[in-house]
Amino acid sequence: VEQTYIMVKPDGVQRGLVGEIISRFERKGFKLTGLKLFQCPKELAEEHYKDLKTKSFYPALIDYITSGPVVCMVWEGVGVVASARKLIGSTNPLQAEPGTIRGDLAVQTGRNVVHGSDSPENGKRETGTLNGTLFGLRSLSLNHGKKKTDGIYLLNR
Ligand code: GTP
Ligand code: MG
Repeated sequence: VEQTYIMVKPDGVQRGLVGEIISRFERKGFKLTGLKLFQCPKELAEEHYKDLKTKSFYPALIDYITSGPVVCMVWEGVGVVASARKLIGSTNPLQAEPGTIRGDLAVQTGRNVVHGSDSPENGKRETGTLNGTLFGLRSLSLNHGKKKTDGIYLLNR
C-alpha cells in the first residue's frame, strides 16, 4: 500500500498545530501507521533535504528543521502521496489555495508548517521501507476500525 512521510515542522509544533494537521489527514480518510515527536539532528536534516543542497536557502532550511521538535508520521492509503501534497498546498503559503494546510495556516515559505513526500519513491525512502530507517519511523500493520490494537506507535530510534 502507498505510504507517505508527513512531518509537522518546528513552527507547526510550536504554534500548536499538530492536532489540526493530523485531523485533516484523518478526516480525509487516510490511515495513520506511525507517529513520533523527534528532535531532528543536523546530519539527518541534511540527508532528508540532500536534493536541495545547492540552493541558497539550504543553510536556513537546515537551521529551521533542527530548531525544535518535529512530529514524524507515516500515512497510508491509495494515492496518499499526491493527495497529501494537495491537502498541504503549494510550497509558498501565499500561493497555496485556501482550504489547504499552508493556505490556511502559514505565510512564509521558510515557515510552511508541514512536509509531505513528493513521490511514492520518496514516500518509501522517507518512511524507511526502502533503504532502512530515515527518521527511525517504522509503520505498523494496524487494522484501524477492524481489530482492536493495543496502541499505535512505534519506533526504534
Ligand atoms: P517539503 O514538503 O518540505 O519538501 O516542501 P516542498 O516539497 O513543497 O518544497 P521543496 O521540497 O522544494 O523545499 C523544501 C522546503 O525548503 C520547503 O518546504 C521550504 O520550507 C524550504 N524552501 C523551499 N524554497 C524556499 C525558498 O525559496 N526560501 C526559503 N527560505 N525556504 C525554501
Ligand atoms: Mg519537497
